[in-house]
Amino acid sequence: MFLPQLMARVEKGEKLAALTCYDASFARLLTDNGVDILLVGDSLGMTVQGHGTTLAVTLEQMAYHTEAVARGANGRAFIVADLPFGAYQQSPQQAFAAAARLLTVGANMVKLEGGAVMVESVRFLVQRGIPVCGHLGLLPQSVNTTGYRSQAREGSAAARLIEDAEDLENAGAQMLVLESIPAVLAGEATQRLGIPSIGIGAGPDCNGQVLVLNDLLGLTEKPPRFAKDFMEGAWNIANAVSGYVAAVKGGEFPGREHSF
Ligand code: KIV
Repeated sequence: MFLPQLMARVEKGEKLAALTCYDASFARLLTDNGVDILLVGDSLGMTVQGHGTTLAVTLEQMAYHTEAVARGANGRAFIVADLPFGAYQQSPQQAFAAAARLLTVGANMVKLEGGAVMVESVRFLVQRGIPVCGHLGLLPQSVNTTGYRSQAREGSAAARLIEDAEDLENAGAQMLVLESIPAVLAGEATQRLGIPSIGIGAGPDCNGQVLVLNDLLGLTEKPPRFAKDFMEGAWNIANAVSGYVAAVKGGEFPGREHSF
């Protein structure tokens, strides 16, 4: 699926349901059950590889998983692939080389973490035909600085997040992930932006939601408090996934209790 088809859903007022996905079998299952966006997240460093952070994931590993997901989805879902730590922060040229690698194996868009500091790279990529998703709030690749804590809880940090979001949009980003920030702030950012916001631990007022697949499947030992185990009460994985999609599209998930 290409960006215009995805945007047509947003323009109709549909909420976007996104899940992380790391292999072809799940790509097929998630696509069959109505997931709009498959995020090949560098969370695979934790969920698949067993690391404590996302930092060890390499570009070649991202390419390997993105290619598998693209094969499984077979053009029926929109595929966003994370640029991994160290593969894009150095320069716009480095970001372009990394993003091009992921697009050649089937990604429709790349995601990168950070605000003002990434604006030049976002512009560079977009001008060269690479759709970009920004990522603000809790940035897992900055865990050594921030830890895994919710972000932008006080005035100046909240104002900076809004500025960063607008700067990313002005640079050409076409989607924005908002992670672990107050619901009110995510709602305000969503109101101000013309591009869809995809929340995770950011309350119910974003244009779409993303969850880590392993959290949805109840496989995570200590899931974040905003996550929900959709296997509870489901009779199989397909049923849990379609329950998630219905809950996102119907505005029932996330509720206020899944945010800060
Ligand atoms: O890597 C990932 O899974 C992500 C989500 C947490 C948004 O970036």
